[in-house]
Amino acid sequence: MASRLPDILTIDWPKNATSPTPAAQLALKRAVQLVRSGGLVALPTETVYGLATDALDSESVDRIFQAKGRPATNPLIVHVADKEMAKTLAADWPDTADAIASHFWPGPATIVVPKKKIVPDNVTAGGSTVALRCPDHRIMQWIINQSGYPLAAPSANRSESLSPTCASHVLESLRHRVDLILDGGQCVHGIESTVIDCTATPFQILRPGPIDREHLESILGETVTVNTQSIDMHQTQTRSPGLHARHYAPKTPLELTTDAASRVKELLEAGSRIAWMTSHIDDPVTRSLASSHNVLVIPVPKTPNAFAAMLYATLHAIDKRELDRIICDDPPHTHSWEAIRDRLSRAATVVDS
Ligand code: TXA
Ligand code: MG
Repeated sequence: MASRLPDILTIDWPKNATSPTPAAQLALKRAVQLVRSGGLVALPTETVYGLATDALDSESVDRIFQAKGRPATNPLIVHVADKEMAKTLAADWPDTADAIASHFWPGPATIVVPKKKIVPDNVTAGGSTVALRCPDHRIMQWIINQSGYPLAAPSANRSESLSPTCASHVLESLRHRVDLILDGGQCVHGIESTVIDCTATPFQILRPGPIDREHLESILGETVTVNTQSIDMHQTQTRSPGLHARHYAPKTPLELTTDAASRVKELLEAGSRIAWMTSHIDDPVTRSLASSHNVLVIPVPKTPNAFAAMLYATLHAIDKRELDRIICDDPPHTHSWEAIRDRLSRAATVVDS
């Protein structure tokens, strides 16, 4: 592990150009060399920044766990160039996996299938399945293709903290624990991929994400279940703090509430300094509370995709202000908001812990 801070190299790749600028190609070459020699490279994907290394080398993979402070029991996602590369790692390739890959790859769909022996045990936390994803990002694709390796890449943050959606978030979280950061700007989706278990019948969404269950159902023609435990468990978690691991958490305690205005008023009266994430900015009550110096009103979008794109960046920015609390309007209880509710309810667990 490096002892000095990593270089951050900007990848200039004009939108319509098929290849990056010569300077960017040099930077990408350095990243490829690092990956080939067991180094850790942080780089953008369309969801969040990933911390990547050769997925087939268990020592390199160990370095990821160390850099993140991640428990060895939590498996990693392996990123592939295409379906063909995915099949070299899968012991079985069910029809559902094929349908999901055909429709959603490259894109934010992670498919869990039985693993082949060549996938090191530490990648899968000793389990018999492997999570595979083909990212829709030119930089990540370039590194996979040029290195020739599938890349193990969790989100490029210390365990239990917010995922990074830009290069500076990576540096702030991992510091000297990463060898190189490729800066490819903001991530488009802003939340982690949808993880789908194709080994279970009926198959299940294990982690809600940018592809929601209705979209999956419309493509597959089958009912998709969501492992609601991951959502409900975290609601329980808010009531019973400390029972479960924290994830996706800002440092500032976050509360989700259906009556945010009353809660904000109450906290202001108690002298707290608050960030209030709300979509009701034109509401007269919001306007009147916003006049207090102790509240920072942050307008949030009314659509789930736009909300996801700004969520982590907003929480990162709020953390820098060292406020006492984040109040967030409870998002709609509909399928399209499932991923947002999942992330916010996990973040909200910090409140009582
Ligand atoms: O969008 C993403 O998925 C990002 C980018 C970098 O690709 N990656 C990401 O990785 O979010 P990570 O490690 O932060 O989250 C991976 C999730 C974890 O919840 C892990 O438990 C689950 O995927 N996972 C990995 N392998 C699995 C497996 N074999 N079975 C079930 N869940 C698995
Ligand atoms: Mg993560």
